[in-house]
Amino acid sequence: MTNQELIEEAKIAMEYAYVPYSKFKVGAALLTDSGKVYRGCNIENASFGATNCAERTAIFKAVSEGETVFDKIAVVSSSNEFTYPCGICRQVLGEFMPKGEVVFDDGKELLVLKVSELLPYKFDLI
Ligand code: THU
Repeated sequence: MTNQELIEEAKIAMEYAYVPYSKFKVGAALLTDSGKVYRGCNIENASFGATNCAERTAIFKAVSEGETVFDKIAVVSSSNEFTYPCGICRQVLGEFMPKGEVVFDDGKELLVLKVSELLPYKFDLI
């Protein structure tokens, strides 16, 4: 799957964003080593802290289905800018795909960054 194809999957995921509070839609598409794609969107809550970001929705869906080896995740949003993962999502990306890459799209070009660039010196227990 190409980076552009993974971005298109993330755009589909974004359509399902539940964002009555921020109106800021985010979509993610996670590519497993077996070639399967898990989509995720942000899901907000009236208790704001219960909101789940698109990246974590995709990762948690995959892990809960028994997938743990990921190569790449694409992230898009309703803004026409590169949308970088929040700190909590970076920590989750670092847990499950420390050698992985994140693909961004600002509507003009794609940007690919390593998870290790987004979160150097991540917290580790094991
Ligand atoms: N959001 C994500 O889905 N991913 C991120 O990495 C950054 C923030 C969502 C959470 C919330 O629904 C909205 O964007 C505004 O913060």
